[in-house]
Amino acid sequence: MRLSRYFLPVLKETPAEAQIVSHRLMLRAGMIKQASAGIYSWLPLGYRVLRRIEQIVHEEQQRAGHVPMLMPTLQSAELWQESGRYDAYGPEMLRIKDRHERDLLYGPTNEELITDIFRSYVGSYKQLPLTLYHIQWKFRDEIRPRFGVMRGREFLMKDGYNFDLTREDALHAYNRHLVSYLRTYERMGLQAIPMRAESGPIGGDDTHEFLVLAETGESEVFYDSEITELKFGDREIDYDSVEQCQSVLEEFTSRYARTDDTHEEAVFEERVPEERRRRARGIEVGQIFYFGTKYSEPMGATVQGPDGKPVPVHMGSHGIGVSRLLGAIIEASHDDNGIIWPEGVTPFHCGIVNLKQGDAEADGACEKLEAALMAKGLEPLYDDRDERAGAKFATMDLIGLPWRITVGPRGLKNGVVELTSRRTGESEELTPEAAVERVAEIYAPHL
Ligand SMILES: Nc1ncnc2c1ncn2[C@@H]1O[C@H](COP(=O)(O)OP(=O)(O)OP(=O)(O)O)[C@@H](O)[C@H]1O
Ligand SMILES: [Mg+2]
Repeated sequence: MRLSRYFLPVLKETPAEAQIVSHRLMLRAGMIKQASAGIYSWLPLGYRVLRRIEQIVHEEQQRAGHVPMLMPTLQSAELWQESGRYDAYGPEMLRIKDRHERDLLYGPTNEELITDIFRSYVGSYKQLPLTLYHIQWKFRDEIRPRFGVMRGREFLMKDGYNFDLTREDALHAYNRHLVSYLRTYERMGLQAIPMRAESGPIGGDDTHEFLVLAETGESEVFYDSEITELKFGDREIDYDSVEQCQSVLEEFTSRYARTDDTHEEAVFEERVPEERRRRARGIEVGQIFYFGTKYSEPMGATVQGPDGKPVPVHMGSHGIGVSRLLGAIIEASHDDNGIIWPEGVTPFHCGIVNLKQGDAEADGACEKLEAALMAKGLEPLYDDRDERAGAKFATMDLIGLPWRITVGPRGLKNGVVELTSRRTGESEELTPEAAVERVAEIYAPHL
């Protein structure tokens, strides 16, 4: 992509309405534009990151054996009357009437719709286990939308639903989701800690929220500092193995880690030595629930068990805040000059800065670099504008590409370009070929 032909409306001024750094940086980097309170247009740069995050979520869901599909944003009120949640949900639900005066709603979540799909087609335990998921826009008429995409009214969520014959099978599905979420967040360069939480309007007994530690987080959290040393890493896991998933769950949830809803000071003090007790704030980027037959019973989602008798299926639902993740990642990874994207989610893999636009040799070298990077399957952003070097560097720093190659006549005389890490600020002189090789190596685990 050439910057001269792209649409990157960066802002010089810090927007006054933005209270937290991720919101400020998303506006300044030209990633989003507010359409109305809590509703955003995704400008090209923001859209790229959103798609990268979605892609990781899809890959990790499917690695765990979950099946992608797509349900609509608008739902009929009838299904929600059946489950009893139409009245229970309250003013967060956006209710709409169509021209025939039929009651519709913009889905805040999809338990009813998916349960209806399930009961329409699945009749036997032999078709289980089954986990279906989608990534779709949700609407919750939040009383105080704020912090940009962190607490929007319209937001993108991955929501998945497991259907199992028994409680044990459904708990395995729960554990499988926990494992796949750990992998998902780590691929995005994030540490998200599973914490025991409250279930809210989804219902159920077993639930964990995944929290990214950040001062600007809306949740108060209490945890044993040892938990921050745990890494899922690149271990292989068999998602069908009950033992393997269970042991990962135990490893990541046996230490004290709770949100304020479930926090018990006495238990905290008893179980965690004082020097390891941490009270902090966190951003909720996901939540998993096991709720048994809460929806299958009222909605008649039963299957024939091995003995021929109908039994309601055991279910759970599992959400990831796809659009909120952009804010969470920026909160966790930025400096005074702008965003620092982790390699896994960066909108472009590498920036190319031409220090002397219009100089035949510099232009030629940049074009060759661009082509060589693309031939490796990478997507560079080439700043080919006729701008001062300082302005080009400032834009690259603001939009946060993790790697930058700087090309100028002086270096080219010696046959070198400069490769710079956004995170450390360190630069290295290399031949253009070696720079391409280096960048390709860095991204090999992410492609
Ligand atoms: N208003 C919102 N804007 C952006 N993302 C959201 C919003 N509400 C929820 N999410 C994301 O969707 C995920 C799954 O939804 P869930 O039903 O668990 O939300 P929630 O617990 O009601 O969220 P919160 O407590 O932050 O209001 C959350 O973990 C969060 O990351
Ligand atoms: Mg939640």
